[in-house]
Amino acid sequence: MDFDIRPCTSSEEVKQAIAPIGYYFGRSTPNPDQAERLTRFLSAERVYAAWENGRAVGGLGAFPFELTTPGGRVPAAGVTVAGVLPTHRRRGVLRAMMRALLDACCERGEPVAYLWATEDTIYGRFGFGLASFTAEIDLPRDRSAFYAPFAACGRVRLISPTTAEAFLAPIYEGVAAQTPGMFARSSEWWQIRTLADPEWRRGTSGDLQCAVLENEGRPTAYALYRMNSAFERGLQIGSVAVIEAIGESPEATRAIWRYLLDIDWMARVKAWLLPVDHPLLLLLAEPRRLGFSLRDGVWVRLLDIKTAMSARSYQARGFVVVDVRDEFCPWNAGCWRVGSDGVERTEEAPGLRCDVSTLGSVYLGGFTWTQLARALRVHELRPGAAAHADAIFAVTSAPWCPEIF
Ligand SMILES: CC(C)(COP(=O)(O)OP(=O)(O)OC[C@H]1O[C@@H](n2cnc3c(N)ncnc32)[C@H](O)[C@@H]1OP(=O)(O)O)[C@@H](O)C(=O)NCCC(=O)NCCS
Repeated sequence: MDFDIRPCTSSEEVKQAIAPIGYYFGRSTPNPDQAERLTRFLSAERVYAAWENGRAVGGLGAFPFELTTPGGRVPAAGVTVAGVLPTHRRRGVLRAMMRALLDACCERGEPVAYLWATEDTIYGRFGFGLASFTAEIDLPRDRSAFYAPFAACGRVRLISPTTAEAFLAPIYEGVAAQTPGMFARSSEWWQIRTLADPEWRRGTSGDLQCAVLENEGRPTAYALYRMNSAFERGLQIGSVAVIEAIGESPEATRAIWRYLLDIDWMARVKAWLLPVDHPLLLLLAEPRRLGFSLRDGVWVRLLDIKTAMSARSYQARGFVVVDVRDEFCPWNAGCWRVGSDGVERTEEAPGLRCDVSTLGSVYLGGFTWTQLARALRVHELRPGAAAHADAIFAVTSAPWCPEIF
């Protein structure tokens, strides 16, 4: 290797380390404002780069997240800014950075890593498994009636995103703590990422808008969105782009979506990064009008099986023994007994055999053992073992990560 892999030592070096991924967004040098915002969350020692003659030719970092699991929370590395300059691709730069980054995460006591992938084929080799699907919708507003009318409760107020954190954060936190795949947001994250509205984020859309639903004076739901106003021969063809709409209860969620679906002048309502079990599917009179389509969501990598698996709950009594292969982090390999009475290494005969990436796929509840066995990603060594494991790993809601990091 003619490059040197090491963590950054200053925010100036972090800005260099994110230049390779920035290159693929068409930038010769990172957008200074975007880079400045990133360095607020990515401390230098959490960003690795491949250095060649003093220049970063690749970069890879990890946010320090608290990730919600089914029934718990776990420190997790939110892997981000993966990029290698096209002049240095396929020479092992990503592999070397991933080695250094994941080893450092283990040493810091982060038993899980997770990420959004630009391509499905990159991360499986490092032990990441597809852990969720995410949905997008593109709904003609004139076909957005609900299956049953409801009496509007509460009132919606428009507030400035700059003053919104106090209203939004408690609602988000209540939902995030219960929803596998979501992570806790710090006040800085709200201010610098969620509610900030720099020009470069807008594209062709309007300003960031914030609507809050209040019931008896208390915020119970909110929506962050942008209006894309457009006309063609006098006809409205614009759309509302929903960035995040969250309610603390089914009633509040229904009311904030009704608000979004009823905004005049907009021909369509579009949203991305929705959970696959979003209630709109069953709220609408004509669900097929949603154009509900799926793509891969987050990918999860268990770095320390015992700690990671102990940070989630299990539904049924009993246990399952899984024989795990893990080439990239061999300390995980072997037989594990997993269940509500604990997670331990075992000498017992396994009922299931799989790669560690498969554990990532079941971890948040996005996929069942049975589904994975049907796709030949799990080998069932004892008949019925997958169904038995499903009862133990059962979850009540699909994993959801409402933002790409
Ligand atoms: C994806 C990217 C980071 C890979 O970096 P790289 O240094 O070329 O990767 P490496 O040489 O370390 O490759 C490691 C392995 O991954 C494979 N691989 C890398 N990128 C791949 C891709 N896009 N599709 C399929 N396989 C890929 C390599 O073939 C190699 O396989 P091997 O270990 O079996 O030999 C780089 O191509 C890049 O920056 N792409 C554009 C930006 C991007 O997509 N970033 C990811 C954001 S989530």
